[in-house]
Amino acid sequence: MSLPRDLEALAIDIAQEAGELARVRREAGVAIAATKSALADIVTEADREVEALIRARLRTARPDDGFLGEETGGETGASGITWVVDPIDGTVNYAYGIPTYAVSIAAVQGDPTPEAWEALAGAVFNPPGRELFHAARGEGAWLGMTRLGVSADVGPAGALLATGFGYDPATRPGDLALTGRVLPLARDIRRAGAASLDLAYVAAGRLDGYFERGLKPWDFAAGALLVTEAGGRFGRGTPDDSGRSPLVVAASPAIFDALAEVTELR
Ligand code: IPD
Ligand code: CA
Repeated sequence: MSLPRDLEALAIDIAQEAGELARVRREAGVAIAATKSALADIVTEADREVEALIRARLRTARPDDGFLGEETGGETGASGITWVVDPIDGTVNYAYGIPTYAVSIAAVQGDPTPEAWEALAGAVFNPPGRELFHAARGEGAWLGMTRLGVSADVGPAGALLATGFGYDPATRPGDLALTGRVLPLARDIRRAGAASLDLAYVAAGRLDGYFERGLKPWDFAAGALLVTEAGGRFGRGTPDDSGRSPLVVAASPAIFDALAEVTELR
């Protein structure tokens, strides 16, 4: 097997084990452990426990690789491969009992920053729906055993688009203004609450496009590979000194340029 396929297989195994742990903990009841960047930005004990499990499994399987996780930060490796991990993407949904959350695991090569890395493999697993999205570079994107492709055309009613809003109340008016500019392109807008699944849904053709400002690397590392391996396009703006992560846009080729233009992606 090729390196991307090996990494994909490992991401799949660990995402499923980690997702099962998240699901079991959710059934037992979830308490918010702390708030992070803003009052609305929460972490549960399950986020930490699931990340610890993923990190331990990766250390055993590939001790020379680096790690970048939402809850425990980064560690440089010697192999040139880094695992970029969101143990529970959609934590607010998770805490409220909404089944739209996922374990997101990606393996990237090169400098572990989104501007520099090349994603080699990724898995996004939604435990309640038992949906496993996965991709390896050059090998396509898959939902279980079914190959994924982005939507072909956008009908006259417009595109079905998704977005998200940052946790910081100060950034909400800007996010709403951006959504307002996009609305003329849209037949409707979704805000599901888990960026990795938004991207997986673009890959699966369940959404025509997605845009959001302020995502962290672990929110989109695996999902961006799903989109491009499914024939879609993924773009990210240039980081500036605002302190906020740049806009990302992911879409089928049929709508990408129009979405990039109205969102002023650059
Ligand atoms: C969040 C989700 C949400 C997005 C936020 C992310 P988290 O991740 O992906 O959809 O709008 O920007 O931070 O905090 O649940 O891991
Ligand atoms: Ca998370």
